[in-house]
Amino acid sequence: MQKERRRNSSRVRTLVFAGLFLLSMVLFTGMVFAGSSVDEGRKICTTRKLGNCVSCHYLPDVESPGNVGPNLVESMKNYTPEDRAIVRQWIVDARKFNPETIMPPFGANKILNQKQIDAIVDYLYSLKKGGK
Ligand code: HEC
Repeated sequence: MQKERRRNSSRVRTLVFAGLFLLSMVLFTGMVFAGSSVDEGRKICTTRKLGNCVSCHYLPDVESPGNVGPNLVESMKNYTPEDRAIVRQWIVDARKFNPETIMPPFGANKILNQKQIDAIVDYLYSLKKGGK
């Protein structure tokens, strides 16, 4: 009887450890993915064949960025987390805000896919926290 109870409690302890281990793996994977989406966004914005946002906008860590468009580090200071949809809309199709814009409609013209646009938005928001 005593032995049986001891065996059960060690089984419970094993289960609790396994549960905690799984939970920490899930959290860790989530963190890795959150980081990589910011990195992906940065890559798209600074790569000529992808978004090439830096041909018109200032972004950190690139040599001689363009200045036809606003400095996006400064722009992002005006956007709160609730404005995510607005920031996204700029990238999907800036004509919604300025019909005469020279900014390419990256989403509407399928220059970039939805996942890439989400990664860019994550990257732009990371600039608010002093990210690179
Ligand atoms: C050909 C030049 C050009 C390119 C390329 C370009 N933009 Fe723009 N963008 C502009 C201009 C100009 C504006 C200012 C608004 C206007 O006049 O349309 C703007 C505005 C914006 C805004 C709003 C800024 C604010 O102050 O509210 C965001 C956000 C933005 N661009 C993001 C991007 C991203 C991200 C990319 C790359 C995927 C990109 N832009 C590529 C020219 C460009």
